[in-house]
Amino acid sequence: MIAGEFYKWTDKKGTVHFTDNYLSIPHEYRHQIKIQKMEETSEKKMEGIAAELLIKKSVNEERKAISDGEKAFNEKCTKCHSLSGKNQDDSATQLVGLLYSDKFKESTLPVSEDSVKRIIKEGGGEDMPSFPEMTDKELNELMRYLIPYLKKK
Ligand code: HEC
Repeated sequence: MIAGEFYKWTDKKGTVHFTDNYLSIPHEYRHQIKIQKMEETSEKKMEGIAAELLIKKSVNEERKAISDGEKAFNEKCTKCHSLSGKNQDDSATQLVGLLYSDKFKESTLPVSEDSVKRIIKEGGGEDMPSFPEMTDKELNELMRYLIPYLKKK
């Protein structure tokens, strides 16, 4: 797109959309696109548009992080861990509800996202391997995916 311009279109439900990415507009709506120039738009409206673009960007980034985290979990962890929530008490490798489990409460480890990251990076107990090659970014993505499970009561 040309600097200072963005696209405006209205979907079937009547919702008005703004984007600066032409390719993100569904094909069926491309015929009705209006190109809007920044100068022609009031400042207040521009703030709304900027906020919408920003929200969309952060939602997309969050989705990507969670799906990368899920991929990493399936590649590296599902050999030994499950997130099904079954056999919670019998299984040392059950991660569901971990942040609230008695096991963790009684341990000397602080129960926090950071301590879980440390266990993953450095290994834990006798049989939990370490993953020293995982970067902070990868650990954070893994946590984006895992946290809702770890917090389940
Ligand atoms: C080879 C099997 C194996 C793999 C692969 C593995 N773990 Fe573990 N993990 C274990 C075992 C066994 C324990 C329990 C260790 C203990 O309590 O002594 C454990 C413990 C943990 C704990 C601490 C909670 C607890 O129950 O003690 C976390 C968190 C954890 N693993 C996360 C992960 C993540 C995330 C991955 C993938 C990056 C992973 N593990 C890969 C076997 C594994």
